[in-house]
Amino acid sequence: MELAGKHLVLGLTGGIACYKIAELTRLLIKAGATVQIVMTEAATQFITPVTMQALSGRPVYTSQWDARMPNNMPHIDLSREADAIVIAPASTDFMAKLAHGMCDDLLSTLCIARDCPLLVVPAMNRQMWQNPATQRNVGQLRADGVEVLGPDSGSQACGEVGDGRMIEPEAAFEAICAFFQPKILRGQRVLITAGPTFEPLDPVRGITNRSSGKMGFALARAAAQAGADVHLVAGPVSLPTPWGVYREDVQTAQEMHDAVMAATPDADIFIAVAAVADWRVDHVSEQKIKKTGDVLPTFSFVENPDILATVAKLPNPPYCVGFAAESGDLDVHGAEKRKRKNVPLLIGNIGQLTFGRDDNEVVLFEERGTTPLPRAGKQELARTLIVEIAKRAPKTGGPLLS
Ligand code: CTP
Repeated sequence: MELAGKHLVLGLTGGIACYKIAELTRLLIKAGATVQIVMTEAATQFITPVTMQALSGRPVYTSQWDARMPNNMPHIDLSREADAIVIAPASTDFMAKLAHGMCDDLLSTLCIARDCPLLVVPAMNRQMWQNPATQRNVGQLRADGVEVLGPDSGSQACGEVGDGRMIEPEAAFEAICAFFQPKILRGQRVLITAGPTFEPLDPVRGITNRSSGKMGFALARAAAQAGADVHLVAGPVSLPTPWGVYREDVQTAQEMHDAVMAATPDADIFIAVAAVADWRVDHVSEQKIKKTGDVLPTFSFVENPDILATVAKLPNPPYCVGFAAESGDLDVHGAEKRKRKNVPLLIGNIGQLTFGRDDNEVVLFEERGTTPLPRAGKQELARTLIVEIAKRAPKTGGPLLS
């Protein structure tokens, strides 16, 4: 589980976005985090401590004078075991307090007495967000090393439209997960292809394959969490775009090729995960092909461009990583394919054991030999692969954090 062993203090302040924190709490708990809820007086007007207690499975604290703490010091004890404090929603007033070091209730006192990182998730009316005082306070919080997540733009509870609404709980969850990942790809630009391609035969039919896109999307997410600037070129899949990733949707191999070639000059690393169709029909019928008695349709095919091999052949290619889903003899095919595509690293797996599944088992093929990795969930495996790729890719861009 992604947040196993992490202890979070989740502080709610007054705002209608408190309803989103029920879902955020559920996501954090599901990912293995321990969540200690602390609420301001105002927050309890929007969602009850009973609800938050039921979701977090722990007693909720709302008062500095809570007699449940044996030493009567909740402001110290609650933050000492925390890996991070997250304030969501963070109201205008609470951010002003934080920026000025004021502490007149349990949550603000806890923040000032903390010895762990602080993340705030603003939620407010657009005019309140744009107010110069709020902008000053946000700038001060950033300068103090506080992570500010959001806000989003869109329609607000008050009926107005603009910047200030809280990011969705899923986005807040993703940002919190990303916060805990080491930034081993900071400053690197990563281009990834994912999913199948779809080669039309006529307006309603086509040829595709069984790639779900899960592995490529998991790699895009892990690369973004590692601090990279990620451009994902995705074939037809029904997967949500990972947080912080720029996504470009394509259908055919030729479209994928064109999108990749346009993006390659800006890429430091290219990871080709897509299961690209090898062939397309040389003539796509404009009308739906009808049954005509005994005569079965025949198609003639032309080969699609090999995107990975084309990029690897460029005069100044990015660091290229290929994938190979084989149906057997992985050792032979993996090594041969890496050489044929002229890439320094190829990640091989057995297709039947991975397509559509949530886990995968891979072998790394390199000039110096092979390295098998243990079977793992695709998200966990993606994080491991990003570590392996970061170790091997030439370093560019900003300073690396370990
Ligand atoms: N690839 C690509 N463009 C293609 C075909 C494959 O970029 N037209 C990339 C895939 O994204 C993957 C790697 O090349 O990273 C290997 O793909 P695979 O389909 O296994 O290779 P093929 O060259 O098609 O070999 P095979 O004969 O086994 O189909």
